[in-house]
Amino acid sequence: MSEKVLQYDKPSLQGTLTIPGDKSISHRSVMFGAIATGKTTVDGFLLGEDCLSTIDCFRKLGVKIDVEGTNVSIDSPGIEGWQEPTEVLYTGNSGTTTRLMLGILAGSTVHSVMTGDASIGKRPMRRVIDPLRQMGAHITGRADGQYTPLAIQGTVLQAIDYHMPVASAQVKSAVLLAGLRAEGTTIVREIEVSRDHTERMLRQFGAKVDEVDGVISLKGGQTLTGTHVSVPGDISSAAFFLVAGAICEDSKITLENVGINPTRDGIIEVLHNMGASITVMPNEDSQSEPTATITIETSTLEGTTIEGDIIPRLIDEIPILALLATQANGKTIIKDAEELKVKETDRITAVVDELKKLGANIEATEDGMVIQGPTPLRGASLQTYGDHRIGMMGAVAALITDGAVVLDDAECIAVSYPSFFEHVEEVK
Ligand code: S3P
Repeated sequence: MSEKVLQYDKPSLQGTLTIPGDKSISHRSVMFGAIATGKTTVDGFLLGEDCLSTIDCFRKLGVKIDVEGTNVSIDSPGIEGWQEPTEVLYTGNSGTTTRLMLGILAGSTVHSVMTGDASIGKRPMRRVIDPLRQMGAHITGRADGQYTPLAIQGTVLQAIDYHMPVASAQVKSAVLLAGLRAEGTTIVREIEVSRDHTERMLRQFGAKVDEVDGVISLKGGQTLTGTHVSVPGDISSAAFFLVAGAICEDSKITLENVGINPTRDGIIEVLHNMGASITVMPNEDSQSEPTATITIETSTLEGTTIEGDIIPRLIDEIPILALLATQANGKTIIKDAEELKVKETDRITAVVDELKKLGANIEATEDGMVIQGPTPLRGASLQTYGDHRIGMMGAVAALITDGAVVLDDAECIAVSYPSFFEHVEEVK
């Protein structure tokens, strides 16, 4: 853990950035490549710590994975050829690795033990293990499987018809990946649409997945075949520069190759609703995942309400949207976002406590927060709670504060955006 002092003196931001690869899609490219038989090649892979944890887990299962810059190649005998790992699978800070691997390992032929860092040790796993146990999975763990470490004995699974109690792509994906190996047709019914990268990528690897009005169905016993995956830039990383461009004076930033999957693009809708100067130019040659070049300029912003079914489309962007709201005229209300409490840290408490230290007028509610703007922000010492997105929220705030912002731990930002500070230097 190392402290970082950020003294930027209110720069105007100018320039063009290529946003690093999408974290959700990078994880899945390795997972699906490892399940598939044959060779998978990936470009634009995110070299963030979370995705490197995924690679490390599959290497321990005997899958050959080579990394050269942001190109990754995966050579797998297919899920049935995996070796039983002699070491614990360590998932680091990554909820996506932990939860999706539970679904994959449950229907594998191996026994494995999985654990992660202190934050992972506090995140609920029963939301995944409950439906997997209904499918016949053998998973044990601390607090009856609620927390890591977890032990998984791969077995033959049965399909289920699952009504999701929460809007979570991690839960949906774990059940679908287990469903690939189950007897019968697995059905998942979403309460709200969550990111659909798993469904899109399963099709890319040759599986048939149907989706009608939030009901997804997948026949068990389908095999995947290695393919090529191009990972678009992560809109959740772009979000920090979209907000920076909107709130810093005399700024104009262009972000290239940003993924604009409609299940992830809630922040663009909110920026439009708040009156931001933003243009989105979709790329014609996008593949399975749509991409765009996005330009943002200094904007006069109005408060807004963010609630209901847009929440899963921007759940990871709420910390940085809260900072944005401190600079908007009037009140911004964020509700229906209780899922924030079970992210890398409790992001309702973390966002409210840290923005208050900077002088923001912000109060926590049961399922979100209320922000009154605009408020000039001042420097302060901030805690990141080891959460990359809280760290980047503090760093973007430092671009508009009077005085320095000190982050207690900036290293956690490498979880999703290792080149974040280099990109700040490029545009400031
Ligand atoms: C993710 C799903 C979301 C998101 C996380 C990545 C994924 O989590 O917050 O950063 O890759 O499927 P939930 O499924 O818990 O909503």
